Amino acid sequence: MARLVAPDTGAKELAMRITGVKCILSAPAGVGLAVVKVETSEPGLYGVGCATFTQRLLAVRTVVEEYLEPLLLDRDPHRIEDLWQLTYQNAYWRNGPVLNNALSGVDQALWDIKGKVAGLPLYELLGGKVREAAATYAHADGRDPQEVLDRVLELRADGLSHVRCQMGGYGAAGKGRAAPHDDGALHTQPGSYYDPGAYARATIVLFESLRAELGAETELLHDVHERVAPIDAIRLAKELEPFRLFYLEDPLAPEDLDWLRELRVQTATPIAMGELFTHPLEWRTLISERLIDFVRVHISDIGGITPARKLAALAESFGVRTAFHGPSDVSPVGHAANVHLDVSLLNFGIQEFTGIPDVLREVFPGGPELRDGYLYPSDQPGLGIDIDERLAQRYPLGPDMAQFSGGVVDWTQSRL
Ligand code: CO
Repeated sequence: MARLVAPDTGAKELAMRITGVKCILSAPAGVGLAVVKVETSEPGLYGVGCATFTQRLLAVRTVVEEYLEPLLLDRDPHRIEDLWQLTYQNAYWRNGPVLNNALSGVDQALWDIKGKVAGLPLYELLGGKVREAAATYAHADGRDPQEVLDRVLELRADGLSHVRCQMGGYGAAGKGRAAPHDDGALHTQPGSYYDPGAYARATIVLFESLRAELGAETELLHDVHERVAPIDAIRLAKELEPFRLFYLEDPLAPEDLDWLRELRVQTATPIAMGELFTHPLEWRTLISERLIDFVRVHISDIGGITPARKLAALAESFGVRTAFHGPSDVSPVGHAANVHLDVSLLNFGIQEFTGIPDVLREVFPGGPELRDGYLYPSDQPGLGIDIDERLAQRYPLGPDMAQFSGGVVDWTQSRL
């Protein structure tokens, strides 16, 4: 007769455990980046993850090294969901870009480790490819419509079918109002000065001229970057409708999201929003009420790959596509994570990608490759990208980087 045996509750030697969690700060291309490295008891087995909140890097590093490492040491790195929830809820007050970026660094590194253990690239763990590569868009900027057009034609010659067009950057700085002349007595405040009316009028002229020259085929995008009042954003979206944008990005600030319903009933210009979002409550209604067409989060700012998969699944069931944020303050590790998601998500829309400079490729060997406007993920196990820590140390954060020394980041200070 079989004898009932009590389960073995004695301390068991774990197959693998976390032995180190550190945050590496580096600025090889002049933009401060944060990458988390999670080390394991398996010799040579570690993972990397993007934790770049470039304006508050030191705060992210403190959270990673002072709070997350002690919490995670000796735990089983296989349990990604469990460790995500533990890390998220452990502080009681949770959410926000600092904590989410720290969490993302760990989360992406754990997915990297899981892929290395399985001997599979991350996209295989996410269900496998539904496309070979991710279509990308790049930026065309210029002082006038002709300069923007010339840049669009260059990008098209490089194989890009989607281009984001701006004139004079966000809010067309320099197009309208300049900073008040300061003879020393005015104490002019630093910031990015602009004229919302001049910006909106110039933007219509820009797209009118681009469509006349390009015809219907090139997909054009534009980023309002929350530079106009809500009612003016609605009018701008309506006036842009004849020029058939692929999408209009961030027409409203997160604080003005209730205006989206009004915007939606007035125009069929497709809307992308979300690069400032950090919590599911910010996107849930936008998706379930179909108030946006593309959800555009910055994956490290929402806490990594684990929450990004859930967001993408929610969006898929409402016909909303992804357009993950991919500027230069996403590390190459973060770009790698973006592309593994892009190729495995049915509702992928487009990927922002402005290239990875050679100096970053040296510090972060591996990663995705851009060919003819499409980004191809690495086929190596995990994220397929590494960090050369010794080389990274050669590019410390510089004192000239205002965001690290408490200085004013001019472009975020919009002034009328
Ligand atoms: Co944007």
